[in-house]
Amino acid sequence: MGSGYMNQPQAFDPLAASYDSTFTDTQIGRYLRGIVQSRLALHFTAGNHILELGCGTGEDALWLAGRGLHVTATDVSEGMLATARAKCAGHPSVQVQPLDLRRLDDTLLPDTFDGVFSNFGPMNCLSEWRTLAACLAQRVKAGGIVGLGVMSPYCVWEPLWHGLHGNWRTATRRWRKSTTFQPDAVSEPIEVTYPTIKCITDDFAPHFRRTFVRGLGVFLPPSDVYGAVEKRPQLLKALMGLERRFGSLSKLALFADHYWIEFERI
Ligand SMILES: C[S@@+](CC[C@H](N)C(=O)[O-])C[C@H]1O[C@@H](n2cnc3c(N)ncnc32)[C@H](O)[C@@H]1O
Repeated sequence: MGSGYMNQPQAFDPLAASYDSTFTDTQIGRYLRGIVQSRLALHFTAGNHILELGCGTGEDALWLAGRGLHVTATDVSEGMLATARAKCAGHPSVQVQPLDLRRLDDTLLPDTFDGVFSNFGPMNCLSEWRTLAACLAQRVKAGGIVGLGVMSPYCVWEPLWHGLHGNWRTATRRWRKSTTFQPDAVSEPIEVTYPTIKCITDDFAPHFRRTFVRGLGVFLPPSDVYGAVEKRPQLLKALMGLERRFGSLSKLALFADHYWIEFERI
């Protein structure tokens, strides 16, 4: 499988080089990823073969490989794939390959997986999730878990922060049916949606049962505000404390930056 249809750089290509310093390696990014990894550790064990969708720089694939799992790590961005390949080079149990979630029919994947996950937003590049759910239903064994980290439509931080800074368009972007993401003038713009928990659950329902949901960043802010919060240690400590105490309440999940949702193959 190749990515020959992509003759324009993908939206995340120009972000690949700085992604780890601006997100992965921040205090807040590490804390939130740790929550997801503790969920992955609950379900996936050494020897399992896991499919990752939208792997970015390969941080989670590397972590899973370190725990003895086999990972097929996929992404649409050649820039992200190159970084993931370099990062996972010493781990033959990680296979990094292109996969565009919008063109699943074009793709060839191994037959079966013990589980699937997608962390921090790749699901938001789709406008419906039925096609993905049907595709995963063919490949996930009965009882297997699919875990998804999805940007939430009702994140409280975003309208507050950007509204207070007079940036109304950004403040309200998650309330629109979709928005466009294009970090520079040459890369292909991508359509970004903000599905509710119900919307994703309904689209997965023919093949999967929802088993768990929680917020990721209810009190902690979205990544464009990490810098402002991390340079105020007292504020960061207070927000971390709130996140630790109340962040896992499922009723708050829709108000977080992302929600983490898990399904079991039925
Ligand atoms: C915010 S990053 C998250 C990366 C990684 N999962 C992580 O935890 O850091 C979103 C990723 O989704 C990928 N992505 C966006 N649209 C996609 C698509 N249509 N198919 C596959 N991956 C896509 C991007 O290239 C990017 O690597």
